[in-house]
Order: sequence, then structure tokens, then C-alpha cells
Amino acid sequence: MFVFKAAVVGAGTMGGEIAQAIAAADIPVVLKDVDQRFVDQGLEKARQVTGGQLAGLVKKEKLTQEQADARALQIVGRIIPATSYAEFGDVDFVIEAVPERMELKQAVFAELDAATPGHAILASNTSSLSVSEMADATSRPDKVVGFHFFYPASVMRLIEVVEGEETSPETAQAAANFAQVLRKMPIRCGEVPGFVVNRILNSAVSELWRIQEEEGIDVAEVDRIVAESKAAPMGPFYLADLLGLDTVLKVAEHLQDSYGDRFYVHQGMRELVGAGDLGQKSGKGFYEHAA
Ligand SMILES: NC(=O)c1ccc[n+]([C@@H]2O[C@H](COP(=O)([O-])OP(=O)(O)OC[C@H]3O[C@@H](n4cnc5c(N)ncnc54)[C@H](O)[C@@H]3O)[C@@H](O)[C@H]2O)c1
Repeated sequence: MFVFKAAVVGAGTMGGEIAQAIAAADIPVVLKDVDQRFVDQGLEKARQVTGGQLAGLVKKEKLTQEQADARALQIVGRIIPATSYAEFGDVDFVIEAVPERMELKQAVFAELDAATPGHAILASNTSSLSVSEMADATSRPDKVVGFHFFYPASVMRLIEVVEGEETSPETAQAAANFAQVLRKMPIRCGEVPGFVVNRILNSAVSELWRIQEEEGIDVAEVDRIVAESKAAPMGPFYLADLLGLDTVLKVAEHLQDSYGDRFYVHQGMRELVGAGDLGQKSGKGFYEHAA
């Protein structure tokens, strides 16, 4: 199946960059959120990412500044902002990127089932939830698949293509092909909590979260040691702030529910989320962030 037009639902931490990755592959993409303010933020993110990528090419003398300016307009111009499903009648591939809550995802999948043509593939960027449960909200469970990007989606090349109980082989293959059109690297994986990457990442990060709380170590100190050791580009607390503490907490809770206490849920993070401090996107988390 060829994707002539795509859509992304949810223009938050992930959605704006996912739409940018699709537009940069020269495919028109609708970017929908519940409020114009969020759509605008997603568009701004796409604009910034595009500017950064093209500036890199100008610096390497692969493009002139004029070519880069024209290309930026072309890429961002392929993103169609939306707060309704009016533009979804002719889409071929949709990526849902709304917050990590099953009842919300199911509501969105039911709406997408009604708004899109019957051949359209409905994909979820979920980090850990069951694709099969989302498919239950549609009349086309064979065309529902996980399509899990990593943060930041404009840079990270991996996409986990997650097969639910009823995902057809054709859908999984079409999703893997689409990932390659986006110049990404698809890996096919089964529907297990955390899939592949978050299961590995969270088992390592769990130990750092646990020792920090048990020993009362300063979070900035943990981050500094991890970054200086070069084991990772940044420490786990700063990373969690960038990813969004509500998303990180949901994934951690889901992994603990699924696999038990070998996965740790950070109590300090739970308190921050309870207070509405979600990290970079709300301006405060483990750290303060400039707007
Ligand atoms: N943040 C990450 O690092 C990351 C990485 C990979 C996958 N994910 C997954 O991507 C999904 C989105 O995460 P995020 O971090 O971008 O969340 P986010 O909170 O930053 O953004 C979610 C966006 O969805 C919008 N939204 C809520 N309800 C909606 C609806 N009914 N219709 C349209 N838009 C709606 C919100 O207004 C918000 O702009 C989650 O499933 C998450 O697990 C997140």
C-alpha cells in the first residue's frame, strides 16, 4: 500500500515531530489536536526541527541558504493543521499520539474508524499499552498496528512495529514499509508490555530511580554521574523531564503491574505528576525549564 496522505492525532511532545518526519518525506500529513493552541505548538516544533535539519545541510554546503529556505516552506507547508476530522476522509495511514490512557486511545480509535476510509491503517504510537485493546474499538482490527517512535522522533531512527492479536501480516508489512519511507528503521515486535526498547530501558533506569530514592541522592548528582560516565547522553531524571513525566510514569506503572517489583515506580515522580509538574512541557519537573 502506498501512503499518499497521512495523519497524526495529538500534537504534543511526539506528534509535532512525527508530522515533521512524514512531511520531510514529502507526504502530506494532517496534524490534529483538540485545541488550535496545541496544533500551533506542534507546528512550531515541526518548523524548528526542519530549520535545524536544513541549517545543518547549509553548514555542510550541501544546500544553499535559498534552497534551504524554499525546502523549509515546502516541508512545513505539507502539514495540514486541524482540530476536526474533516481532513481525514482520504487518509491512508493515521498515527495516534494522544496521552497514554487506554480509554482515551479507544475513544480516538472509534472516531478514526468512523472518519477514515476503510482501507486506512490506524496506528498507535503507544509506549506500552495493548494495540489489541485499541483495535477492539474499531471495525477493522486487522488494520490496527503499533507504530512506536522514540523521542525525539525527528532524530531517532528506530520504530517498533507492534503486531496486535488481529493485526494482519499485510498491515504489519505496510507499516514497516512506511517506516522505511520515513527513512526510519522498523523492527517488528510482539505485543508485550514495554515492547522491546522500553522494557530494556526501564529495567536499567529502575535501578537508578530506586537507589536515588533509597539513598536520598540528589537527582542532579545521579544525572551528572551518568552523563559524565558517557553511559548515556543524559541522566534518567533530565531525560524523564524531556519525555514528559506523565508518560514516563504511565509506562513505569504499566511495567510494574505487568512484571512486578523488578520494575520500580519513582514516588517523587508520582508526586510531581500529581502536582501537575510534567517536566519540560509544563515548565517544571525534576528541573525548572524555560518556556
Ligand atoms: N513522550 C515520549 O517520549 C514518547 C515516546 C514514544 C511514545 N510516546 C507515546 O506517544 C503518545 C503521546 O505522548 P506525548 O508525550 O506526545 O504526549 P503529550 O501529552 O505531550 O501530547 C499529547 C497531545 O494529545 C492531545 N490530545 C489529547 N486528547 C486528544 C484527542 N482526543 N484528540 C486529539 N488530540 C488529543 C493533547 O492535547 C496533547 O497535545 C503516548 O502514547 C506516549 O506513550 C511518548
